[in-house]
Amino acid sequence: MGLQYKRYEVDNISMDNNDLMINETVFHNANGYIGIRSNYEEDYPTVYDTIRGSYINGFYDIADMKQAEKLYGLVEDKQAMLNVVDTQTIHLTVEGEPFSLFEGKVLESKRWLDMEAGVTGRTIRWCSPSGKQVEIVIKRMTSFVQLPLFTIEYSVKALNFNGVVKFRSYHLGEVTNYSNANDPRVAQDSRKYLLPVQAEIVNGDSYLTSRTSMSELRVCTGVTHTLSKEGNLHTAGLEHSAICKAEVKIAEQETVTLTKYTVFCDSIRSRDCIAAAKLELEKARSITLEEHYLAQRKYLKEFWDNCFLEIKGDDALTEAVNYNMYQLVQSVGKDEYCNIAAKGLSGEGYEGHYFWDTEMYIQPFFNLTEPSITKNLIGFRYSTLEKARENARILGHKRGVLYPWRTIMGVECSGYFPSGTAAYHINGDIAYSVIAYYLATKDLDFIAREGAEIVFETARLWLDVGNYYQGSFRINEVTGPDEYTCMVNNNYFTNAAAQYNLLWAVKFYELLKTAGKLAVLENKIGLSFEETREFRQAAEQMYLPYDEELGINPQDDSFLAKKVWDIKNTPEEEFPLLLHYHPLHLYRHQVCKQADTVFAHFIFEDAQSLETIRNSFDYYEKVTTHDSSLSTCIFSIVASKLDQVEKAYDYFGDSAKLDLFNTHKNTKDGIHTANMGGNFMAIVYGFGGLRIKESGIYFAPVIPHSWEEYSFRINYEDSQIRVEVKHSESSFTLLKGTAKVIHVGNQAYELSDKVVIHK
Ligand code: BGC
Repeated sequence: MGLQYKRYEVDNISMDNNDLMINETVFHNANGYIGIRSNYEEDYPTVYDTIRGSYINGFYDIADMKQAEKLYGLVEDKQAMLNVVDTQTIHLTVEGEPFSLFEGKVLESKRWLDMEAGVTGRTIRWCSPSGKQVEIVIKRMTSFVQLPLFTIEYSVKALNFNGVVKFRSYHLGEVTNYSNANDPRVAQDSRKYLLPVQAEIVNGDSYLTSRTSMSELRVCTGVTHTLSKEGNLHTAGLEHSAICKAEVKIAEQETVTLTKYTVFCDSIRSRDCIAAAKLELEKARSITLEEHYLAQRKYLKEFWDNCFLEIKGDDALTEAVNYNMYQLVQSVGKDEYCNIAAKGLSGEGYEGHYFWDTEMYIQPFFNLTEPSITKNLIGFRYSTLEKARENARILGHKRGVLYPWRTIMGVECSGYFPSGTAAYHINGDIAYSVIAYYLATKDLDFIAREGAEIVFETARLWLDVGNYYQGSFRINEVTGPDEYTCMVNNNYFTNAAAQYNLLWAVKFYELLKTAGKLAVLENKIGLSFEETREFRQAAEQMYLPYDEELGINPQDDSFLAKKVWDIKNTPEEEFPLLLHYHPLHLYRHQVCKQADTVFAHFIFEDAQSLETIRNSFDYYEKVTTHDSSLSTCIFSIVASKLDQVEKAYDYFGDSAKLDLFNTHKNTKDGIHTANMGGNFMAIVYGFGGLRIKESGIYFAPVIPHSWEEYSFRINYEDSQIRVEVKHSESSFTLLKGTAKVIHVGNQAYELSDKVVIHK
């Protein structure tokens, strides 16, 4: 196994079934619209398990979620992302012998992901059982430039014979989703969601159209092939599938290539998805594959220019971080019909659902590197406001909106409400992300158009859910980020997020009023100055639990009264605890799945003294299992803030390698996108100490002992800034845009070219 600069490579591919499934995820191709797992074209032996999947972001069907007891308002169905088609399958025969890595002899094998080219590949030298040797190179790409397009370039070189090679390339509409009845993090039941509607062969191109059984959506995939030399190429339709047969003579040392183009079109984005697929296939054919590759490189060059990040003295970590950033651009939705799923488009874990992961872990990356993508993400929440309003009414709230904890098209999809619907902090998270976008860009027009309505409506909900008691504003019966502690009163994180949401509702009201940009929205949602006074009052009187004796913020009103879980003496195989203990048992203990109060100390650091933050960090560290992949990155950030740099480094390392090393043991179900965003944050906000506040931009750089230097680039307002940190000095360079005042430590500097600060 090895990483090079923006290239991840595995030699001597393991044939262990579990490793193969992990690599299906690790080497998947995606572009934010489509995602294709990296399954073998030639299939595995039938006894092997696989998750063979191709997905479209935001394309879903509705599945039953029967509740054991029919209580009012419980969610009874959910949206699930679908496996839509299989166009990965290509069988090769060499002089009549079928190619398989499980037969004959593998002389050399390699899989790779080139993150500058945007292409994955396999290179194999194979000797057939009768001794024919071939070199096979298979490259795959999901285009960032033509989003519906997926290509497979399949080349075979004859090494020691003259003869015939045959390809059988399939287009299969009969596919199902993956399920595992024993793991709550994937679908429990296997159902056939897609029903065939139409199969058509037009001039050798195949088109298959399916419709979903409940959501009334359609998807059409179009497939076409080309051969690099004269040969037999013929496509025939079967029932809801098509097969393209190619047969070609090959001479010793000659290479023959079959290129397969697939386009995916759905009825969410186009009224007539069959017509759209025909147009997309034409478009794909209008330039050569080489030209598609060049366009892909150009797109990625811009991406890497914007999110440059380097750690000198730790190549493996640099490249793991690059891998993580690459997965974010692969996963994030590029239009307003979708968002970014917890597993991106790499697998079926969490059924393609969007969570708070987007706003609190992934959006910060795009705010600082490509804010136009953040606008799409916020735009998605904006377009689902109505659904969030309906959700609030179901939950009994007379005003405001309540965003669903997990969703695809805006409706609540969590089955188990104590660690789902009750996580009201989602409202605060979404509001926080709008505010963070504003602070990083100062784009008040967008706030006037979309952002402010989200912030006002989420603020309204807090007034409805909370109440005054003994002189302060309280929020009862909610679940904070830590899912091992559910349904509590005054979760510190939630209350702090609500306070921030309410305060910013007042600020946006004032800012927009002053700028003359409020009238339309004021009328639309009936907002008045009196209501903003209610916002301010609730914010000012928000109850934030504090324990005098320990000098910490308790996670909630009852947390400290519970038994402490003995993490040290819990056998390793019992983690994650959620797979081994009844939820009630967990809830009765002081044990945290993930950063909760510690997270609040990062994003609302001015709400508490440094001493309280330090005490809290020490306290929660002892009771946190990090069973969630959203945890170590946040602990890393706060450890950096507290000058515990080596500890921050350890947490950071865990987060950086999570998927490449399958440390959470479920990478086969998909990548962990929130952790990937959090990993970026651990450098920029953690080691770099970046904060963007109303009063300006701040840095407080620290550097781990084993690194020589690290550097990164960020966008701030109209500028791009490069930050370079060494043990002896930190420097800040204005790469683009107008001069800025930056704060480093307690000092303000005018950054018009370069500022160097010696330690
Ligand atoms: C975490 C949540 C997260 C979800 C999806 C859960 O395990 O506890 O915080 O949103 O995974 O990533």
